[in-house]
Amino acid sequence: MAKLLHLQSKNLSLVFKIGRIPEIIHWGNKVATIDEDLFLATERPISQARLDVDVPLSVCPELGAGHFNSPGLEGHRQGADFAPVFQLESVIEGQGNVTFGLVDSVAGLQLDVNFILDFESDVLQQKLSIKNIGSQPYQLDKLTNTMPLPYHAKELMTFHGRWCQEFQTQRIGFEHGGFVQENRRGRTSHENFPGLFVGSQGFSEQSGQVWGFHLGWSGNHRLRADVRSDGRRFVQAGELLLSGEASLKPQDSYSSPTLYSTFSAEGLNGISARFHQFVREHIIRFPKLAQRPVHLNTWEGIYFDHNPDYIMQMATEAAKMGVERFIIDDGWFIGRDGERTALGDWYLDEKKYPNGLEPVIEHVNQQGMEFGLWVEPEMVSQESILYREHPEWVLGVNGYEQPSGRWQYVLDLQNPDCFAYLFNRLNDLLSQYKIGYLKWDMNRELVQPAHLDKAAVNGQTHALYCLLDALREQHPDVEIESCSSGGGRIDFEILKRTHRFWASDCNDALERQTIQRGMSYFFPPEVMGAHIGPAECHSTKRKHGINMRGVTALQGHMGVELDPVKESAEEKQAFAKYIELHKTHRDLIHSGRNFRLDAADERQFIYGVEDDQEMLVTICQLAMPSHALPAPLRISCVDPKASYSVRIVEMPNTSFQLMKHRPEWIGKTIRLSGDNLREIGLTLPILDPESALVLHITKNL
Ligand code: DGJ
Repeated sequence: MAKLLHLQSKNLSLVFKIGRIPEIIHWGNKVATIDEDLFLATERPISQARLDVDVPLSVCPELGAGHFNSPGLEGHRQGADFAPVFQLESVIEGQGNVTFGLVDSVAGLQLDVNFILDFESDVLQQKLSIKNIGSQPYQLDKLTNTMPLPYHAKELMTFHGRWCQEFQTQRIGFEHGGFVQENRRGRTSHENFPGLFVGSQGFSEQSGQVWGFHLGWSGNHRLRADVRSDGRRFVQAGELLLSGEASLKPQDSYSSPTLYSTFSAEGLNGISARFHQFVREHIIRFPKLAQRPVHLNTWEGIYFDHNPDYIMQMATEAAKMGVERFIIDDGWFIGRDGERTALGDWYLDEKKYPNGLEPVIEHVNQQGMEFGLWVEPEMVSQESILYREHPEWVLGVNGYEQPSGRWQYVLDLQNPDCFAYLFNRLNDLLSQYKIGYLKWDMNRELVQPAHLDKAAVNGQTHALYCLLDALREQHPDVEIESCSSGGGRIDFEILKRTHRFWASDCNDALERQTIQRGMSYFFPPEVMGAHIGPAECHSTKRKHGINMRGVTALQGHMGVELDPVKESAEEKQAFAKYIELHKTHRDLIHSGRNFRLDAADERQFIYGVEDDQEMLVTICQLAMPSHALPAPLRISCVDPKASYSVRIVEMPNTSFQLMKHRPEWIGKTIRLSGDNLREIGLTLPILDPESALVLHITKNL
């Protein structure tokens, strides 16, 4: 069956060399044709003092065939069948996709490796599934997607983070050895976002060859990037299975999560453009509202202190500012007066809401806003009716104490009674009240994640997906936000079932700039919840003026997170101004092409969004400028042949401290050719630390 197989998308090619087991020989820029002699031209020499045969870096590298690095499959049958070697049995090719069917009849295993290359977005989806065709159970330890990289992939960009500091990045050299990221937290996690970039030396926002990877999975995972001693390199991404987690009875199968990958020769901007397009076309479905409504979320405004009359006042003030969706956060259900109690008891607290929730919802609707409600269905507090009645529903290993997290425990969603209880409670709430939106929170990690005493992160994750799917089937118009102490559950697989992410519990605009930038590599702005908080940020106590806060929330799915009743008239006017600015440019922000520019000043972030007619560009000065004068702003994505009108739509309204004379063009609309904007650039004012400027640039007809 020796041959070459070529999948093509608009700009990329994926080329397989097919022998005993297929290997990828190219994943990158499009090649027009595949030459017959390429089969020969890609034959490798065999070096001295090594195995006497060539070992392909295949779609599932095998220890049994002489791959001495991380194999694609690990497992055993009571110690035996630990080093399988597959034979290709079938190649099923479709338009832009292929499935390789492989069998090891000695080990009794059947492996399918599937690739789907999306023509329009250039995003590749890859998935494996393994079936036990032997007569004894097979203990699966690992099944991971493997993608080879060329020798000039020399630098990694990885993600790390923590609560209130998600999506931080770091660069690592990639020449010998490797990088491993293991997530054992039972949710996508703040710490280990399942994404990774590998690129040519010094790749940046605007330049370099980059391969981008994201594993769509909300449970445990393992990512690795390795350089073998022979210089060949690869990325692996798959679920991290705990001991005993995947035991396959004869004829049972296991499927890996999907690995999404793409390539760009135009730096990280090309990668994010492709991921965004894919997400918009294949992952998110907004059920009804044409535009993403501006939110007010009550959490940081009132925390657990719920008084319906006061909440209605908040709603009135919110509507005056232009808010379109009003969400009651934690604290509305029976006995929930603080963090330690009541999770699981999803009934309205009638002490707090003696007239029910209906009058509040009606009031919110009368103000022209949609109503949303917070829930945290996967959790239970020890101090709750649910726990008293069903302590056995807690996810855990019998016979041990496990630490609580935020004084709460996780429920075993694979327990059918527990699942039914949660479905019924949520279904009742959604049926009883006019709720258009659920903020679905998840505030602790999984410790001892066991169902019937066996490891069960996989089962728990699938059960969560089932719960969301079942509710969405009953209530297709309800939108759901994935929140997990902020950004603890952000990935493509959960996004298939939700419509927005709460990016972080940190509303500190300075921190948010970095968090949102990291998130923007994978996710478009319309799913990135970004709220204006009060002047003194609750999570850091840092203070920011309204310019920095307003601009930072502007280019996401905007919201406000504070108590508008207590804010001054001046602040409220400012919120209204930024909400209006967001609405003016909302269609562009939520559908245009996003980009980030490589700023000459490393203490500056420059980013924007464009379509064929207009562009919004933000320049945010994060810290003291590196030099006394800023570099001219050169925008690479304009059309050099077109003419543009440029004006500032937002800048600090306080006096500038570092500048005594402003460039004359400020306050005017100036006309510049695309050519001049790209090559010569626009002189910027000197921005003080922690302030920002927004330009609107339109193409002249
Ligand atoms: C954590 C979330 O991230 C917050 O926004 C808020 O909803 C709290 N939980 C409520 O307990």
